[in-house]
Amino acid sequence: MSGFVSFPEGIDAKRVPFRTLSNGRRIPAIGLGTFGSDHVSARDVASLVGEALRLGYRYIDCAACYGNEPEVGAELKRALDGGLPRDELFILSKVWNDCHSPQKLTEACKKSIRDLNVGYLDCYLIHWPFPNYHAPGCDVNSRNPASRPYFHDEFMESWRAMERLVKDGFVRSIGVSNVTIPKLELILRDASVKPAVNEMELHPTMQQGRLFQYCIDHGIQPIGYSPIGSPARPERDRTPEDISDLEMPEIIEIAHRHGIHPATVCVKWAFQRGQIPIPFTTKPKNALSNLKAIISDPLSPYEMEAIAACERNCRLIKGQVFLWKGAGSWLDLWDIDGTIPGWDSYK
Ligand SMILES: NC(=O)c1ccc[n+]([C@@H]2O[C@H](COP(=O)([O-])OP(=O)(O)OC[C@H]3O[C@@H](n4cnc5c(N)ncnc54)[C@H](OP(=O)(O)O)[C@@H]3O)[C@@H](O)[C@H]2O)c1
Repeated sequence: MSGFVSFPEGIDAKRVPFRTLSNGRRIPAIGLGTFGSDHVSARDVASLVGEALRLGYRYIDCAACYGNEPEVGAELKRALDGGLPRDELFILSKVWNDCHSPQKLTEACKKSIRDLNVGYLDCYLIHWPFPNYHAPGCDVNSRNPASRPYFHDEFMESWRAMERLVKDGFVRSIGVSNVTIPKLELILRDASVKPAVNEMELHPTMQQGRLFQYCIDHGIQPIGYSPIGSPARPERDRTPEDISDLEMPEIIEIAHRHGIHPATVCVKWAFQRGQIPIPFTTKPKNALSNLKAIISDPLSPYEMEAIAACERNCRLIKGQVFLWKGAGSWLDLWDIDGTIPGWDSYK
């Protein structure tokens, strides 16, 4: 008999819907974010992971750069030792920007597997398409003089290492994050193993309709990060123009109608639209509300339309710290005119 005890107030994980990836593997339709936004300790994030597993979460969204994989791994080990079957879990991690060379990438993946105590990863992502390192918690104006624009040949060298990780059994699926359509076109053209997912910023005021549809059309499952509009994001990711999803009148009105928190409306919308939301929270009660949000009391078609109209192209995670010398503004990271700023902008 399994020693892994779920909370009675939790959800039977088998009731949580799945999405099927292009390679046939299944991924829960909601995950738990683990980025403590520079102010929640590794220990606190890890303890929330333990509670989330007991509440019914099975997909945990990790990354080496969140600085908490050993602590999260201790909680995963506790759950696995307690009888939670490994194949019920979906553990995703990401390689950080200072480990893009094939050898470093392979080592980084093996380290995440060791730290997380999981034997293999269900999914591994290249966190950003640039090999541009910045120190944890750095100021928004800091720039690494070694930073460079996207260089496709170099990216594909990293991708080949990702493909080998699949072939060698370290990883089940691979994917990308923070990429654009111009970059995806090149990656899809040259990849042997196609990206199964794209982790991208998605919330009511940042819907990325074209990229979202491109991913769906090409069999790439969108995973939506900052699904609630990241209200506790680090200072470096705040500008005066940012709009709060939680204060959008449409979201507040729908929340009142359902008797739920506006955050939960964002989670419902994300699930019903087809992306996989990965909300972060420091509170088990909020983790539970977010999980319940996707299995009960759906939004009506009228409410989905009202939220579709909340699009403001409000990118919160702009990525300024990844800019290279000679770049214009953070918009250069996002190929907004349909082309990738190349080495000509790198002086
Ligand atoms: N791939 C990438 O480059 C990338 C970038 C950013 C984020 N991510 C991933 O996405 C995850 C989530 O994004 P995020 O952490 O930026 O922000 P988020 O999930 O949009 O927002 C988290 C905030 O929402 C609040 N919240 C959550 N559930 C709530 C509820 N039911 N009611 C009220 N408030 C609620 C939390 O406050 P409480 O603590 O008070 O509940 C927390 O402050 C990250 O943890 C990370 O795993 C990936």
